[in-house]
Amino acid sequence: MSVSRLASVLPRAARHAPSALSRAILRPFSTSKARLARAIVYTENGDPASVLQALTIPDVTNKPPPSHAHVRFLLSPINPADINVIEGVYPSRPTKTDNLGTREGLGSEGHPVFVGGNEGLAQVVSVGEGVEGLREGDWVVVTKQQSGTWMSERIVPVVDVAKVPGREALTEAQAATLTVNPPTAYNMLHDFVDLKEGDWVVQNGANSAVGQAVIQIAAAKGIKTINLVRNRENLDELKQSLTNLGATHVLTYDELADKAVREKIKGWTKGKEIRLGLNCIGGKETTMMARLLGKDAHLVSYGAMSKQPLSLPTSLFIFKNLTAHGFWQSQWYKTRSAEERDELMKTIVQLIAEKKLDTPEIEVVKIGKEESDTAASETIRGVFKALSEGKYGKKVLLKLD
Ligand SMILES: NC(=O)c1ccc[n+]([C@@H]2O[C@H](COP(=O)([O-])OP(=O)(O)OC[C@H]3O[C@@H](n4cnc5c(N)ncnc54)[C@H](OP(=O)(O)O)[C@@H]3O)[C@@H](O)[C@H]2O)c1
Repeated sequence: MSVSRLASVLPRAARHAPSALSRAILRPFSTSKARLARAIVYTENGDPASVLQALTIPDVTNKPPPSHAHVRFLLSPINPADINVIEGVYPSRPTKTDNLGTREGLGSEGHPVFVGGNEGLAQVVSVGEGVEGLREGDWVVVTKQQSGTWMSERIVPVVDVAKVPGREALTEAQAATLTVNPPTAYNMLHDFVDLKEGDWVVQNGANSAVGQAVIQIAAAKGIKTINLVRNRENLDELKQSLTNLGATHVLTYDELADKAVREKIKGWTKGKEIRLGLNCIGGKETTMMARLLGKDAHLVSYGAMSKQPLSLPTSLFIFKNLTAHGFWQSQWYKTRSAEERDELMKTIVQLIAEKKLDTPEIEVVKIGKEESDTAASETIRGVFKALSEGKYGKKVLLKLD
């Protein structure tokens, strides 16, 4: 996604919108004919299947203020971290808003709500005065953390979005999932070990969206991967599909528990040390994986899907000089410039355009305009219930009309 550097083309003053504008930025205005917008909101933290609700927002016909854009969301992913945010157990916290344009009740003055969602793709409907580098029809991704993307449309400060580069090469789903999982995979493969063609990486949670991106980005660089997954009925099918993505080997945690497999792995790597391990699971699965790492290796943890603590044998630190790190893409964005962010986005778009990287299997959950808020709330709660029961096995993206 070759990105227009909106922040850099804006006048400096526009990057710090005056308070008179700040109340306008969240409003889901329409600039032309009347239409209703919808948002998925919550007022208190808890289980998403209980606390989320759909909220219709009355149309307010207005032009976006200077340095703002009216955008219509095309697709907004549901990522595991979004669930933690709603539960109130994630370090990045959204801010409640009472400026959704409703005249009374939820979202109106004195009745603030959180709007769900962190990642999302939107199309520009119109721009306010002084906005350069962005025009009607452009695709943008939301770059401001936790600003609420599970909406049909809204007014945003243009500094909170980035134009999607190379849009013609991308599907909506590819563009909507550009800012979280592929950059996490890319950075973890580049920031800790200087990997060369023919080097080996081991990862758990290999079937996750990040895991699949790791497989593809590594394969594009000639890096070999050993991929750990949970056992399941259609294991051969999963092994085949990860192999088709570029996985060198796929093993289950159960297979790894068999000590004979360690010898087999030495045969695969021809004795070459594995210097990078990527962990999004935690628990004993990660302890077993860490034992595969060679001398001076780096273990990078970026998730804890099993919710089990990480336990690493002391001997790995003493005798193999293991280094253990954490990685958080949100922190990467906080500490890097907009130019670096855009450069990374371009690199990822390039990989997609070259057919070296794609999204995992996706499912779009559409909430139509004709649905009442009650019906839409039931739909959305049902989605989260199914997610918590592991019933999707696909990346779910919301489309709110
Ligand atoms: N630190 C960061 O910057 C960053 C960025 C992006 C994502 N993440 C984290 O990375 C993780 C993966 O995210 P994602 O969006 O790629 O996830 P995802 O596509 O929803 O996949 C989740 C994966 O977790 C596996 N899993 C779930 N519970 C498990 C358990 N108890 N034991 C073993 N495996 C389990 C699933 O395995 P099955 O295939 O067997 O169902 C699935 O492959 C999450 O923890 C997320 O929060 C972190």
